[in-house]
Amino acid sequence: MEKKYRNALIAGNWKMNKLASEVPGFWAELEPKAALAAGVQSALCVPFPLIPAMKAALAGSQVKVGAQDVSAHDKGAYTGEVSAAMLADLGVDYCIIGHSERRAYHAESDELVNAKLKALLGAGITPIMCCGESLEQRDAGVTLTFVESQIKGGLKDITPEQMKKVVIAYEPIWAIGTGRTATAEQAQEVCGHIRKVLAGLYGEELAKGVQVLYGGSMNGKNAAELLAQPDIDGGLIGGASLKMEFADIIGAANEG
Ligand code: PGA
Repeated sequence: MEKKYRNALIAGNWKMNKLASEVPGFWAELEPKAALAAGVQSALCVPFPLIPAMKAALAGSQVKVGAQDVSAHDKGAYTGEVSAAMLADLGVDYCIIGHSERRAYHAESDELVNAKLKALLGAGITPIMCCGESLEQRDAGVTLTFVESQIKGGLKDITPEQMKKVVIAYEPIWAIGTGRTATAEQAQEVCGHIRKVLAGLYGEELAKGVQVLYGGSMNGKNAAELLAQPDIDGGLIGGASLKMEFADIIGAANEG
């Protein structure tokens, strides 16, 4: 019942894969299989140099283009950085921030994720803010408190009006790229907790409207069960988004 309140979002995260020259062929094959039912949204988050090709390929499609990172700075002497305004100028609709790979390999803190989130909102781009625990944290029984701290840190000073434009993705690190998906119960437990944390920060009504995604080895086979959970509103899909299997996940959302 509550779930119908929210659209499903199936977002692909291509990570550092494929070339711009591969985009038209990929989309030509995917498009006939990737029609979106009412209440289902989709996006492909691609490396910066692939954005113009993806924008061109998806012209006229309901599937949106996303990026995978953004600078926290507006402009200036930040060699190698890409600003939110630059992404908006290319017509980017979504941007992943705080992915565990960026937290691990680029030392991104909740504070930096918070600054990036504000930069995106300022440019009218929907942030997909990631959170998730390591296997050590899960085994130590601190999953919920850790994820809660990431949510609160990432959303610091975000107003209720701004929060309505934020998507959260729960991605347990031990499930990313490992083929070891969280069980539907494990994923639901944390996504449900995230919604409770949001309700504490912004009230029940607002929390009910926030899209909370699950990510981590989601594929064509397990998507339906994960998407059937009451607090899982979609998926952030890595490996399977590089293949036609992405259409199977959209299909599972279409039927949900
Ligand atoms: P995966 O990646 O689907 O390949 O596990 C998910 C992600 O890291 O966003």
